[in-house]
Amino acid sequence: MSIYPETARSQALYARAGELIPGWTQLISRRADQFARGVSPVYAQRAKGSRFIDVDENEYIDWVNAVGAVILGHADEAVDDAVKEQIDRGSLYTLNSPLELELAEELCATLPSAEMVRYTKGGGEACAVAARIARGATGRDKILICGYHGWHDWYQAANFGVDPESGEYPFAGIEPIGVPKALAGTVIPFSYGNLAQLAELLEQHGGEVAAIMMEPARSTLPPADYLAGVQALARAHNVILIFDEVSCGWRQAIGGIQSIVGVTPDMTVVAKAMSNGYPMGAVVGARAVMEPAARMFISSSYWSDNIGLVASLTTIRELKRRDAETRFREIGEKLRLALNAAMADVGLPGRCIGLHSNPVVNIEVPAGIDARKVSTLFIQEMARRGIHTYMSFKATLAHTDADIEQTAAAARAAFAIIKSGLENDALDRLLVADVSKEPFRRLVR
Ligand SMILES: Cc1ncc(COP(=O)(O)O)c(C=O)c1O
Repeated sequence: MSIYPETARSQALYARAGELIPGWTQLISRRADQFARGVSPVYAQRAKGSRFIDVDENEYIDWVNAVGAVILGHADEAVDDAVKEQIDRGSLYTLNSPLELELAEELCATLPSAEMVRYTKGGGEACAVAARIARGATGRDKILICGYHGWHDWYQAANFGVDPESGEYPFAGIEPIGVPKALAGTVIPFSYGNLAQLAELLEQHGGEVAAIMMEPARSTLPPADYLAGVQALARAHNVILIFDEVSCGWRQAIGGIQSIVGVTPDMTVVAKAMSNGYPMGAVVGARAVMEPAARMFISSSYWSDNIGLVASLTTIRELKRRDAETRFREIGEKLRLALNAAMADVGLPGRCIGLHSNPVVNIEVPAGIDARKVSTLFIQEMARRGIHTYMSFKATLAHTDADIEQTAAAARAAFAIIKSGLENDALDRLLVADVSKEPFRRLVR
């Protein structure tokens, strides 16, 4: 019998998906090649709290949590009860729902930059709305970006400016196929942390830039004064500053990174974790930049859906009620400590680094060794022990100390195997899975 979990049903479904669904999955980060393909589970049938059961009946501790979208835990009772009650009252009315105003008030009380609010059903869509509003409010076309902002044309046009194979920006290996060439030059990436480059771009495109859209942080907090510097440049050039807090919002601080660094952007995009697994997104901002949106064509049937509204309201209130910031700090710090202890015990060079809301395992890989082999081996050996993860970890409030201990014990075994693989030049022999593909680059690490 194999020492690895049986995942035959997952593999069979994935093969079938190859015939029915171009690209296999709806989100690139869900593809089997982002994990340890052949060992990691691909399809789930149930999820509760910090765990899920795959279609082959294996149980896993989940550190991916729908790429961060689940924050309270899977099938959280408070949110699900509110959603079920709402379903009984109607999921989508003919008339508008007062919930729209209730959530807008909650967001304005929570996010420093929020005075007015528009809704969507996801993060990329909300980024597209923010780009539309910024362009409409300023009458300018160009947008400077730093981060991942979704799949829409306005953003993917950034790839026209670079070599998709070797370029630093934004998606190695992904060409802007299907994106109108007419958009080339309308979106320009800049490097995180480099104020001089940003200043130069603003000079170079003077008078044409509508907005700077950026992820204010991802796995570490920004260098001191960096975001204040970005804001000063935006103001000097009369450009709208948009923080995309789709991934960094909620866990580190309920008010977002902006509430930690004390820089209030003109607009903010939020989504994902705001609704604990129900589709939702929002663009919030200062009255002066949001008000012009009333004259723009920004309109969609399901943006009024009550389920996302009630799920968001309940999730945000539960995050506050359960003192999420303190608990995420505890979980993140315990996990980081436990993983570092495991690495040190085993004698594998590396560190678990990053924000407590997004700890990342960084294994020092000797020159000449393909780092992806090492990360795939880690993901493979964690999957073998019932832990589903990338190299980074996204907790939920449902994760317990016992989950952390079980994860650290699995990591210790995985680190030992990696160490022996590196020392004995045996990575290829130890890898049962296909080497994982590089995730697309997000500019903000
Ligand atoms: C910072 C950021 N913005 C936008 C998006 C896109 O959100 P969605 O996948 O809901 O369209 C993501 C998704 O990972 C994200 O991390």
